[in-house]
Amino acid sequence: MDRVSSSGIDLHTRVGGSFCAIVCSDRPADTLQKIGAEEGCRLLFHFLNRDVIRRIVPRSIHMAGKLEGKIAVITGGNSGMGLATAKRFVAEGAKVVITGRRQTELDAAVKEIGPNATGVRGDVSNLADLDRLYEVVKEKHGRVDIVFANAGVGELVPIGQVTEAHFDKLFDTNVKGLLFTVQKALPLMPDGGSIILNASIASIKGTPAFGVYSATKAAVRSFARSWTSDLKDRKIRVNALSPGPIDTPIFDGLAPTKEGVDKIKEGFVSTIPLGRIGTSDEIAKVAVFLASDDSSFVTGVELFVDGGRAQV
Ligand SMILES: NC(=O)c1ccc[n+]([C@@H]2O[C@H](COP(=O)([O-])OP(=O)(O)OC[C@H]3O[C@@H](n4cnc5c(N)ncnc54)[C@H](OP(=O)(O)O)[C@@H]3O)[C@@H](O)[C@H]2O)c1
Repeated sequence: MDRVSSSGIDLHTRVGGSFCAIVCSDRPADTLQKIGAEEGCRLLFHFLNRDVIRRIVPRSIHMAGKLEGKIAVITGGNSGMGLATAKRFVAEGAKVVITGRRQTELDAAVKEIGPNATGVRGDVSNLADLDRLYEVVKEKHGRVDIVFANAGVGELVPIGQVTEAHFDKLFDTNVKGLLFTVQKALPLMPDGGSIILNASIASIKGTPAFGVYSATKAAVRSFARSWTSDLKDRKIRVNALSPGPIDTPIFDGLAPTKEGVDKIKEGFVSTIPLGRIGTSDEIAKVAVFLASDDSSFVTGVELFVDGGRAQV
């Protein structure tokens, strides 16, 4: 069993597979340190006698999260996976700057996430908007440790009906926007930062009418490989996170009616070994892994989070 500190009274235990430690001394900087799942700590408290807790737990209690003190930028943070990830990042101790084009949704998301969130309205395909985003980040935080380049759009259009407008919209947002989101973050990113690119299982699948979208996501996956090499001297890790079908508002744009949207979702379910589509929070938990030191030796990968859909 690991030991967190040897000063003062050390209490440590293993609860439900999670390692928790309470470290206490006479110093004013006493902290309660947590390693492992919050659930483990809750159980630990449950088992400890209240008097023991009063004696050993210092006045200032600090629950260290996996992203304590980190600054994260999340594009498309006002909805779906971006919003769920922003909430998880903040719960793990980070401060987040989220973006999106719709001001009302952005304001609502910032309110929902809480005081450690800042919203900057902007379109990722507009380079001046990205410059403004990073000006705010620089002014408010001075750096960015984690970028989750998540903003993206999807449309179902078969090859015969693809228009220039459809092509430009998807490539401008999903490819150009993602590239410059990352490029413009680099001057503010310290060595050892983490970049997470939201790709898709579409990067390796051949889904009808999803040709242009899939090509954008294949490009995103490719960026993770090239940028891992470009940024290796700075020890910046770049990974693609590739979700399978996830229940988010992006589906609403795939069919004109709710019935049509439901039919698309049902169609996906039958192709997923785990028998359901995923939730935004299931993506957020993996984003925390890729953002944090838990994935310190992981770079250049495409991590599929798809209930097995693209794996069988
Ligand atoms: N849901 C799925 O099944 C699935 C599967 C694989 C991959 N993905 C990918 O996951 C990412 C997140 O999508 P989601 O499913 O969470 O959908 P969502 O709820 O619709 O979120 C998309 C986000 O992107 C933002 N966005 C779109 N275009 C933008 C632009 N030009 N500039 C700035 N922000 C923009 C949207 O905000 P505004 O509209 O306010 O701009 C919104 O916050 C996308 O890259 C998507 O391709 C989704």
